[in-house]
Amino acid sequence: MSSNLFEDTDSILSEERIFPPTQEMVDNANITAYMKSKGFDEYEAFYKWSLENRYEYWDDMAKELHWFEPWQKTFEWTEKPFFKWFVGGKINIVYNCLDRHMETDVRHKVAFHWEGDGGETRSITYEQLYVETNRLAKGLQNLGIKKGDRVAIYMPAILEQIVAVLAVARLGAVHTVVFGGFAASALRDRIIDAEAKLVITADGNHRGGKLIKLKQISDEAVAETPTIEHVVVYNHQQLEVPMKEGRDIYWNDLLADVPADTVVPCEPMDSEDLLYILYTSGSTGKPKGVVHVQGGYAVGAYATTKFVFDIKDDDIYWCTADVGWVTGHSYIIYGPLMTGVTSVLFEGTPAYPNPDRWWSVAERFKVTILYTSPTGIRGLMRFGEEWPAKHDLSHLRLLGSVGEPINPEAWMWYRHNIGHDELPIMDTWWQTETGSILISPTIIQPLKPGSATRPLPTIEADVVDKNSKSVGLGKGGFLVIRHPWPSQMRTIYGDPARYLTYWETLPNVYFAGDAATIDKQGFIRVQGRVDDVIKVSGHRLGSMEIESSLVSHPAVAEVAAIGKPDELKGEHVKVFVILKNGFEPSDELAKELKLHVRTTVGALAVPEELEFTPSLPKTRSGKIMRRVIRAKELGEPVGDTSTLDG
Ligand code: PRX
Repeated sequence: MSSNLFEDTDSILSEERIFPPTQEMVDNANITAYMKSKGFDEYEAFYKWSLENRYEYWDDMAKELHWFEPWQKTFEWTEKPFFKWFVGGKINIVYNCLDRHMETDVRHKVAFHWEGDGGETRSITYEQLYVETNRLAKGLQNLGIKKGDRVAIYMPAILEQIVAVLAVARLGAVHTVVFGGFAASALRDRIIDAEAKLVITADGNHRGGKLIKLKQISDEAVAETPTIEHVVVYNHQQLEVPMKEGRDIYWNDLLADVPADTVVPCEPMDSEDLLYILYTSGSTGKPKGVVHVQGGYAVGAYATTKFVFDIKDDDIYWCTADVGWVTGHSYIIYGPLMTGVTSVLFEGTPAYPNPDRWWSVAERFKVTILYTSPTGIRGLMRFGEEWPAKHDLSHLRLLGSVGEPINPEAWMWYRHNIGHDELPIMDTWWQTETGSILISPTIIQPLKPGSATRPLPTIEADVVDKNSKSVGLGKGGFLVIRHPWPSQMRTIYGDPARYLTYWETLPNVYFAGDAATIDKQGFIRVQGRVDDVIKVSGHRLGSMEIESSLVSHPAVAEVAAIGKPDELKGEHVKVFVILKNGFEPSDELAKELKLHVRTTVGALAVPEELEFTPSLPKTRSGKIMRRVIRAKELGEPVGDTSTLDG
């Protein structure tokens, strides 16, 4: 691996600002209570204990949830690197999100305050969410959906999207949520790979004032899928949409005869039964279906929500992500609902109609915990400090960041302008594959701008060389985790060989695909991907996905897609295109090619830069050397051209 990947390690070493917690934060933290129960009053000593007692820790966390039948064994390698957690246990995550709250005061608490793109609002209590979930579960049962079936959910950020996810999981069926910004072919490929029987969608929705015709896009996708039997359509915007006889059914018609007191008991699931498949980009053209299971995932999402966000009974929690990404699964739906907190769900965009939209939402709902992305913060920073200053953000007590490295400047802006110079920021590092946060401070630990700081309890994170040996403090290397954790993905759907690459790229460790450094004081800083994954606004795109999209255009012979540093989005996409004989470079063609990416992959993947070129550097075996192209483009030394992925 070339050393130039790690050259910016120095910047963290020169970051000297450390923000300790206040005594009040330490005294009142959820994690303090747990540490004390184990005889510790300091995180690092407790963390060391947790490495040696990981099964005790996870048993304790799991016991806080409801199990239909207890597990017999906490952890088991089946055939390394395949493993199981909570072996023999029977659980349903939805029981933990809804049913068990029906016996407590949480029943009457608001589960979600929802605000639409246009400003309309709706709130739903835990009891109402329980009722609606049961009704939809019944409706889905009436369509023949049962345990193990796959259901694709292609919906906007509305309460019905949450109901759909919960109803599917309640039945023991497997959801695969597809982000509403993906194009028809991306939806089609995911439906085909998951062999989904049903799509749940909406007529359409507005985001940032723009109409997205979800039903029309899903019709295009479904026309090319052999497995879809029905399409359920939630009428969100009262749009006229074509309904295909025998296949399509309106949500309201499906539920017309389902009374409010309908109860569909939660399907008791084995800990290791599938909960969901979520597609994410890797280094090949085909997105991977990351598989999460009921038991371990529930325990991981619950414990991290409780400790990282330090959820208390009276908190109002807001995660600005979309349910279409893993952050939405773990920290909009499952984690928060398991803790019984009141959350905010927002359909719109940060700066529509004005650049203070987010701050206005936070003020009006009296948000106490805000979890967002570096791109979101950088985007709003650009409009100036006066926008947040217009709003009373004094209810906030804890901030979070996720999805990409947060630069110290954005971190400081966030703390100063949103966190009134005193709030802690939880910079949470994790991945679709990890299911829940692995590296992050808790409210009791010192913080350093730009650093996800320390691993959470039991998480053996390290920075290593090619042989999985620790590189030591202050040196760059690969971020790895040395032992499985409960919420880790179990496999890649239909492609276990691809799962193996996570454990076989470097000997005997989970390879995250990121470069990182641990500084002299033990603070971890994650620098970014070392594979061909491009992070645009915190969202993962595979170089190959963009390249395959472009080579499917008749004018294109070959393409290389790379990520370039971007002040706002973290990275943006640049493509180098070799045209087929008979085609000439032109601005019109460049525009057409960008549009082609938009319609085949989605708006996120559209290259910001497109350069026509007569040739591209290749290995002897003919593989395009993206790393060399990137180094040249950025004016960096090309260095050693051997790469991890060959
Ligand atoms: O590169 C890391 C970056 O996001 C990748 C995972 O992307 P995804 O599966 O889409 O999940 C995003 C939401 C969990 C990681 O490999 N990443 C995520 N969080 C951070 C981060 N990089 C630096 N700091 C973070 N806090």
